[in-house]
Parts: sequence; structure tokens; C-alpha cells
Amino acid sequence: MKFKISESRRKGEWRWAAALLLALAAGAPPAHALSKMRLAHTWGQVDFVFDSDAQRQQLEANGTYVQGNAVPFDVDVDPRTGRVFVSMPAMMNGGAVTLATVEDPAQVQSPRLVPYPNWSWHAGARGCDGLTSVFRIHVDRCDRLWVLDSGIVDIANTFTRRCPPQLVVFQLRSARVLVRHRFQTPEASCDEALLLTVVTEQLDGDWQCGNDAFAYVADAGAYALFVYSLRQNRSWRVASDLFFPDVNAREFSVAGTSMNLMDGVLGLAVSPPVGAACGSHLYFHALTSFQEGRVCTAVLHNASLFADGANDADGAFSFIGRREGQSGAQASSSSGVLFFNPVNKYSINCWNQRRKYASPNLPAVEQDREVLRFVTGLKVIPGDGKGRPEEVWAISNNAQLLFTGTFRPNVNNTVNIVRGAVPALLAGVNC
Ligand SMILES: *[C@@H]1O[C@H](CO)[C@@H](O)[C@H](O)[C@H]1NC(C)=O
Ligand SMILES: *[C@@H]1O[C@H](CO)[C@@H](O)[C@H](O)[C@H]1NC(C)=O
Ligand SMILES: *[C@@H]1O[C@H](CO)[C@@H](O)[C@H](O)[C@H]1NC(C)=O
Ligand SMILES: *[C@@H]1O[C@H](CO)[C@@H](O)[C@H](O)[C@H]1NC(C)=O
Ligand SMILES: *[C@@H]1O[C@H](CO)[C@@H](O)[C@H](O)[C@H]1NC(C)=O
Repeated sequence: MKFKISESRRKGEWRWAAALLLALAAGAPPAHALSKMRLAHTWGQVDFVFDSDAQRQQLEANGTYVQGNAVPFDVDVDPRTGRVFVSMPAMMNGGAVTLATVEDPAQVQSPRLVPYPNWSWHAGARGCDGLTSVFRIHVDRCDRLWVLDSGIVDIANTFTRRCPPQLVVFQLRSARVLVRHRFQTPEASCDEALLLTVVTEQLDGDWQCGNDAFAYVADAGAYALFVYSLRQNRSWRVASDLFFPDVNAREFSVAGTSMNLMDGVLGLAVSPPVGAACGSHLYFHALTSFQEGRVCTAVLHNASLFADGANDADGAFSFIGRREGQSGAQASSSSGVLFFNPVNKYSINCWNQRRKYASPNLPAVEQDREVLRFVTGLKVIPGDGKGRPEEVWAISNNAQLLFTGTFRPNVNNTVNIVRGAVPALLAGVNC
């Protein structure tokens, strides 16, 4: 995320000059009152499985690893094996690992994390040929893990670009690299660019898993979308005014921390197919916004409409409605229900894509001030077609402290991963 108005970043005043901090002494009593979801995993601090004690000592000795500096932001699950993936963007130096699996998926309290695909891809060991700073990931239904690497380190302090942003696609069965796509254009690597979110669309039929797939990548810093075609193995940039932040939505307040954020497009979700002419709907919103946007994916697939920074399909992008708060990550169920997190409401809400996007149709399905403190990742995991239902997974952390420069790594910064079956979440709810 951008966490800060771009004007001050340009001036190099990267100490949250725009962030206004209000420490509220009163804290609400901790009420762990999940009703429809349950804790899948929880940590005070994450820790990793090392190749050896000597490796750990070396990484700690030279500051490459500082326990507590790696903060999980996103989660996804391999529906075939149940393996859980988490990403940890390099908010501070000393994170060492930016993508990992949960060692024991059955362990709720503080399971160790295993670097993915292995240690040689982390801690700078391979430079830009490894992984540097991953915000979000996406497991598709074709045994592929799409990893979006922002390439930026020490984000909460110096915001240093170490590598061009890249999309790395792994085959899950083999951990083999299927694709590495570097976003090489000046727009993708400019000072403002911050590629945060990736979602995909598979076009070649329900259970086909060929190359007819697209990835949509949100750049919340320079307010654009990148479309990557797996078949063509190339990407193009899509610009729209609807990807910009809304200055009227810049004030956030989470768990007693107030801040001003000016982040553009961040939340993305692909609907089920809606007809040949449109493809699917890509729902999108800026973090700093109250509006939900929509565009037909068929429009995005035609690169010639977006050549040379133009947008010859501007009219195809529209705002479909307004919600009461800002929202970050979101995801669509297979039946066309969008799940999202209104940032300062500590909840996960739903919207049936056949209804009007407006307040009464955006109810909460779960709420808990403690467990859902700042939700930075949210996914819908497919069912197995044999009785295990589709599930919503979400991850929360102390992002509000990272965004305001008040994060202390050496204390308990609880990270929670929650899960809930979609049918149970929607029971008795207007979605
Ligand atoms: C961190 O906080 C969580 C929840 O508040 C608690 O369950 C856990 O025991 C704490 N861990 C440590 C090391 O204090
Ligand atoms: C820190 O130590 C590790 C392990 O010996 C090494 O791979 C890495 O390059 C070192 N990093 C720095 C910044 O010195
Ligand atoms: C690490 O993973 C990559 C990708 O799967 C693989 O090519 C490489 O051999 C692995 N390295 C080690 C040391 O296991
Ligand atoms: C995709 O393009 C990249 C250059 O952007 C190239 O290095 C890579 O080999 C290509 N992959 C395939 C499968 O063609
Ligand atoms: C893509 O858009 C161009 C207009 O720029 C149009 O001429 C062309 O037919 C479109 N291609 C497809 C496949 O729709």
C-alpha cells in the first residue's frame, strides 16, 4: 500500500509526515466473538523453519533476519492439498522471507512457516532472480500459484525499489516456475508504482487448464491496472480515472490509530462468467474510496485499446455504487457473491452481484474488533465438489501501525487467519 500522499514521498519526507496519529487510551475490551468463522492460525510473531541453526545465526548476525519484522499480509490455500500460503511484504528490513507455507496446517497456535519454494529464493540470496517483497498471491484452480512481487523493500521507512516488479507463476505440484514476467516499462518501475494485488481469470472452459488465462494486477501507487496474458506472455497497462484515490475518503481509523492514506486501485475480484460479449466482471476499488467500480474483462483483453497510455474504452469502466467505508481486499464466490472488508468496521461483508450495490445489500457476515483488526487479505477458496464447501479465508494484522511508523517488532503483533464456509456465512443474510 502507499500509506502516504505521493507528494511527500516525492520530496523524500518518508516518515509518515501525512499520517496523523491519535492514540486513544480507552481500548475496547477484547471480545473474541467470532460466530460463523473460526481461527485457522494465529501468531504473536511468525518464525521460520531454517535449513540449520548455523544458517539462522548467520542471518541474524548480519541483520538479514530479525524475528518479528516479517508480517503476513495475504493468505491463500491450495484447494487440492489444503496447503496454506502466506506472503510477507518487506515492510521493514530483516523480514528475510516474503513467501512461505504453513508447516502444519492443523496447528492453530503459532505454526512455523516454511519459505517457498525454498530458502534459496529468499533473504536476497538470488537477487532479483528470487523473491523480494510480495504483497499478494493467488492460487488458481489450475494448480498454479501466482506471486506478485512489488520489488520494493523497507516500505515503511525508506521505500526502496530493489527490483522491477514481477509476476512469478509456480506449478504447485512440482514447485516448478512456469512463468517469470518482469514489468519492465518505466510506468511499472517509476517512483510511485506499487503493485499490490493479483487475481486471475481462466477462459478455456470450466475444468480446462490451458494457457488461456489472464492476470489482473493493481498498482495502488501509480493508479493503474496491468493485464497479463499467459498465452501471449506479455502485459499491458490500463489507465482510468476510476483507479484514483478520492481525497474525501483519505481518513482511516483502525484500533485507535488514525491515519491519512492516498492509495489507488487495490481491491480486485473476478465474477463468474456473465456472457460472451463481456466475459466476466472485474470489480475494483481504490483503498481510498467509497465507490465500487466494474469493467467487463473482455474489454481488458484487447491490448490495442490501451496502446501508448490511451484508454479507448474509458466508457466501459463505471462506478456501480457506494459503501459506507473504505475497503481493501475482496473476492467473489462461484455463485456471484462478493466478500469484502470495510476497513474500519472490523467485519467481512457480502454483496450479491445481482443486486444494487448500496448499504442495505452490503451486510456483515462476521465481525470482531480483535480478530478482524486490519484485514489485508481475503480469498474465496474453491470447494472440492465432493462435499467440502467453498470457504472465505481472511488475514488480519497490525497494518495500521506499519502505515504510521509506530510498529514495534519486538512485541506481540497478533496476526490472525480466519476461515468460514460460504453457505454458513450467507445463511440468513441479505446477499
Ligand atoms: C499474543 O497475543 C495473543 C492474543 O492476544 C495471545 O493468545 C498470545 O498468547 C500472545 N503471545 C505472546 C507471546 O504473548
Ligand atoms: C548475511 O548472511 C547470509 C548467510 O551467510 C548471506 O547469505 C547474506 O549474503 C548476508 N547478507 C548480508 C547483507 O551480508
Ligand atoms: C528451490 O526451488 C526451485 C524452484 O522449485 C528449484 O529449482 C531449486 O532446485 C530449489 N533449490 C533447493 C536448494 O532446493
Ligand atoms: C516469457 O517472456 C519472457 C520475457 O518477458 C521470457 O524470458 C520467457 O522465456 C517467456 N516465457 C515463455 C514461456 O515463453
Ligand atoms: C480491439 O479494439 C480495436 C479498436 O482499437 C478493434 O478494432 C478490434 O476489433 C478489437 N479486437 C477485438 C478482438 O475485439
